[in-house]
Amino acid sequence: MPIDLAVVPVAGQGTRLLPSTKSQPKEMLPVGRKPVVQYVVEELARSGVRRLLFVTGAGKTSIENHFDINAELIAFLRETGKEELLEELDFERMGLEYFYTRQRKQLGLGHAVLCARPIVGNQSFVVALGDSIIGMNAQSAIVARMAEQFEKARAEAVIAFEEVPRDDVVQYGIAKPRAGARDVFELADIIEKPSVAEAPSNLAVAARYVFRPGIFDLLAETRPGKGGEIQLTDAIRTLIHKGGKVLGVRLAAGERRFDIGNFESYFRAFCEFALADPRYGPDLREYMRQLLR
Ligand code: G1P
Repeated sequence: MPIDLAVVPVAGQGTRLLPSTKSQPKEMLPVGRKPVVQYVVEELARSGVRRLLFVTGAGKTSIENHFDINAELIAFLRETGKEELLEELDFERMGLEYFYTRQRKQLGLGHAVLCARPIVGNQSFVVALGDSIIGMNAQSAIVARMAEQFEKARAEAVIAFEEVPRDDVVQYGIAKPRAGARDVFELADIIEKPSVAEAPSNLAVAARYVFRPGIFDLLAETRPGKGGEIQLTDAIRTLIHKGGKVLGVRLAAGERRFDIGNFESYFRAFCEFALADPRYGPDLREYMRQLLR
C-alpha cells in the first residue's frame, strides 16, 4: 500500500528565533511569500501524501487556522473585487486531510513522534519536520524516492541525508554508512549530535524519514539522550542494533535543506526565496546590489 500519511512535528518552541517566535510558531514564519509549513505540506502532497497529522503544542493554533478553508475571507475578496487574490488561497483546496494532536510536554522529537501513535496505528508513515524546507520552493521529490526505496528494499526505515561541513556535525543526527555512501546506502549506525571527533561521517539527517509502525515500540523504550530529550535518532539506533534494515537516501544536488530553526539559516532562506520570486525578485536583486555597493 502506498504511504499516504505524514506526521509533522511542530511542537518545538523556537527559542533560537526569539523574539519572533514569542507568540507565533516558527513554522508560520514567512520565507518569501509563504509560511514555512505551507512549503512542507506542498512538498509532501507532491510526493503522494494525502493525510497530515501535525503534532502541535502551546501557541500553535495559527497552523491549524492556516490550513482551514476561510469562507469569510473568500467572501470578502469577492465582495471587494479582489478575485485575483483568490488564487493565493488555492493551497486550501489541495484535497488533503488534516489531523492535529498535541505534545503536552516538551520531551523531545522522539516523544513528539510517539504522540502520533494512537492515530497512526499500524501503518507505515512519513515524518517531515515542520521547520525545514527541502529544495528551492520545496521542489523536491525526496519523500517519493524514499518511499520507493522503502518498498523495494523492505526496509524498516529510510532517512534523508545531506552532506554538511565537518564543523556542523554537532547540530545533527549523523550517519555511519555500512559501505560507501552512494545515493542510497545502508546504515551501520547513527549518532545524534556527535562531537566533530566522534562523528563517523558528515552525512546529516535532513528532516525527512519513513518508518514502519514498529518504531513506536522502540520510541516508548527510549530514555532521554542528548539535551535530556527523547531522541528519534536514538530509537533509530536501537532499530539498527536489533538488525533492522535502515537506509539513507541523499538529497540530490538541487534539493538543499533550508533550516528555519535559527536566524542565520532563516535569513539566508528568506533572501534566496525572495530573490527567486518571479514578480518581486528582479527588483529586489537590483535593490540589494545598490545596498551592497
Ligand atoms: C533534529 C534531529 C536531528 C536532525 C535535525 C535536522 O534536530 O534530532 O537528528 O539532523 O533535526 O533534520 P533539531 O534541529 O530539532 O535539534
